[in-house]
Amino acid sequence: MNNLMGINRALKGLLYFRFLMNPNEYIDQNKDRFLSELFDLLRIPSISADSAYDEHTARCATHVAERLKEVGLDKVSIEQTKGHPIVYGEKIIDPNLTTILVYGHYDVQPSSPDELWDTPPFEPTVKDGKIYARGAADDKGQFYMHVKAFETMVKTGTLTCNVKFMIEGEEEVGSSNLGPYCIANKEKLKSDVILISDTSMVANDVPSIDVGLRGLSYVEVEVTGPNRDLHSGVYGGAVANPCNILCEMIAGLHDEDKRITVDGFYDNVLDLSDEDRAALDKIPFSEEAYKEDLAINGVVGEKGYSTIERAGSRPTLDVNGIWGGYTGEGSKTVLPSKAYAKISMRLVPNQSSQEITEKFTKHFNAIAPAGVTVKVTPHHGGEPALTPTDSIPFKAASAAMKDTFGKEPIPTRGGGSIPIVALFEKELETKVVLMGFGLDSDGLHSPNEHYGIFNYLKGIETIPRFFHHFDALKKA
Ligand code: BES
Ligand code: MN
Ligand code: MN
Repeated sequence: MNNLMGINRALKGLLYFRFLMNPNEYIDQNKDRFLSELFDLLRIPSISADSAYDEHTARCATHVAERLKEVGLDKVSIEQTKGHPIVYGEKIIDPNLTTILVYGHYDVQPSSPDELWDTPPFEPTVKDGKIYARGAADDKGQFYMHVKAFETMVKTGTLTCNVKFMIEGEEEVGSSNLGPYCIANKEKLKSDVILISDTSMVANDVPSIDVGLRGLSYVEVEVTGPNRDLHSGVYGGAVANPCNILCEMIAGLHDEDKRITVDGFYDNVLDLSDEDRAALDKIPFSEEAYKEDLAINGVVGEKGYSTIERAGSRPTLDVNGIWGGYTGEGSKTVLPSKAYAKISMRLVPNQSSQEITEKFTKHFNAIAPAGVTVKVTPHHGGEPALTPTDSIPFKAASAAMKDTFGKEPIPTRGGGSIPIVALFEKELETKVVLMGFGLDSDGLHSPNEHYGIFNYLKGIETIPRFFHHFDALKKA
């Protein structure tokens, strides 16, 4: 009798245990800790572009590795590179099972100009249900969802796939050391799909999946006039002013239809099909709200395309910074010797970053007028990538989001770049799916970057659903 009662109690306990360990309930019970752990991560200023922060960036890698160990990942290692390290970890429950590789980045963009932040960039602050901090959405808040989703699956006994984590520290500076690392570690990084949360959705009630990343060609130009700065009264009007000339040259890079004038720029551009355009046209979008949000009185872009098409599916050329001469307080009458600009070109399939850089360089040299010389220095680049909507990775992400948002997500094209994605597909021969939970209005790379607590928790809830659906679809 005692025995029976004991068994009965044990069974009840087991049921209670199973009930308790439902993933959503686990998330709900642990959400405060999930948030405070993210805050700890956000306090580390891992600015990859600025070597003054190298110590913090390295500390961030160690911090991430510790968190991966804590949730039960094996073979956690900090892989040194010529630049910032890559953090790796894996859980192989059975080599015959499906393997999902999670990629993310722990580095962030510089926070400057800091005076434009309402709260300090590396002191996470919650306001109106949003976490304000550099990296909150891009990408610490998003990759950390995967760490906590993994914890949730382990703790609730619902992990049915192998998992590999690869979190790098150089995404914001072009991932130049990650490519060689991937090529050298193909076997180790082998997986059935690469899952990334580093993109945006249309809105919290309009879930979407980014199916198109743009490529990038990034160059710096230098225009040199006279061999030294001159008195602008004594020499002005008689000697070419590189600042004036750089402005003219840049102005000429677009025609009146806002088409890019670089010779051959559009040669390999894959035009949007009628079907693509119809799909993009279905995305809920208010031009009025867009203008109001940005405090602009009109939108500007390539003739013949909508704002959504311009912002995600068409190639662009933009000055990201321009300087030269005197920019300090007050005035100094000077005719500068040199002028500079940093220029980004966002590319679409099938443009090639290297080809575009070459075309730009040739064109920019060709349009230099007498009286100046120009120098073009290429920075990092990356190739565009597309996720087919009829692929298993897309379908699995779509089903996962439908489970948790109650709505089928729509395919969109975000416009940003994640240079390593095309390389993953080419070198690791593995499909990538971009299941991001941010919003374009999260202020990525801007002051007051933020990430919704709703989005963070929704991501943690959705990721295990992806594992489930991907595994099921793959077996089907
Ligand atoms: N997460 C972004 C890319 C992104 C943002 C894609 C929003 C789609 C929607 C990523 O961290 C990023 O900022 N990439 C850089 C690339 C780079 C080489 C510095 C970019 O797009 O400027
Ligand atoms: Mn990112
Ligand atoms: Mn970024």
